[in-house]
Amino acid sequence: MSLKSAIQPECLPKHVAIIMDGNGRWATQRSQDRNLGHEQGAVAVRETVEAAAEIGIEFLTLYAFSTENWNRPKDEVNALMNLLVRSIHNETPTLMKNHIRLRAIGNLDSLDAKTQEILDEAIEKTAQNTRMTLVLALSYSGRWEITEAVKHIARDVQDNQISISEISEKTVSKAMDTAFMPSPDLLIRTSGEYRISNFLLWQLAYTELYFTNVLWPDFNKDEFYKALIDYQKRERRFGKTSQQLELI
Ligand code: IPE
Ligand code: IPE
Ligand code: MG
Repeated sequence: MSLKSAIQPECLPKHVAIIMDGNGRWATQRSQDRNLGHEQGAVAVRETVEAAAEIGIEFLTLYAFSTENWNRPKDEVNALMNLLVRSIHNETPTLMKNHIRLRAIGNLDSLDAKTQEILDEAIEKTAQNTRMTLVLALSYSGRWEITEAVKHIARDVQDNQISISEISEKTVSKAMDTAFMPSPDLLIRTSGEYRISNFLLWQLAYTELYFTNVLWPDFNKDEFYKALIDYQKRERRFGKTSQQLELI
């Protein structure tokens, strides 16, 4: 039986988020430059996006570049930005063909003008696509996002748009970059690291976490299916007891 056929279509996660990690180690293991790992990582992105769209995932969020990744050597940052521009440019026709909408979250103003332009173009071009939303987290960090949301809400209080007593979890969620999508149901992290690395701190509150030792360039459709199968074995209780869930 293929892995894909073991997935129950009626219990799919709506939103899958992925921390794509291990590109550098993948290259180092082959005595290659780290940037070759990133290039190969882009191939894994293509395959994963295709798998997610085919199976019926509604939102796929990929952590592509963190706020902290700016601290990497300049050469690597440049190579990553060039790869990003090239990938968006080359993949936009495929996104159109597969009816995938592109969005981005993060401090996009910190990207250089050329990157912003290519990104904006692709977002605009794909805006009407409805099969799946692919979200790239770029120059993103959860703490940055929460800090920006706090500033936004504080401004609204100052301008008498909202009173302090009216601030709810919903107010905070709406002030986030991710306001347009539901919280992730499943988070996948590759490369055997067991941490969140400043990703979606607010949104991961009740997300199921899946860790695999596979390095990101080796991630493929079957690895994605394995994560979905594992997810479908979980019981999401949201604080309730198992017995309460049986009654629903
Ligand atoms: C993930 O792979 C890609 C980015 C963070 C941009 P890494 O480059 O972190 O690979 P490792 O963790 O060094 O192996
Ligand atoms: C997390 O990977 C960021 C991305 C995948 C874009 P890192 O490799 O930067 O995370 P740490 O430094 O190991 O926590
Ligand atoms: Mg890493």
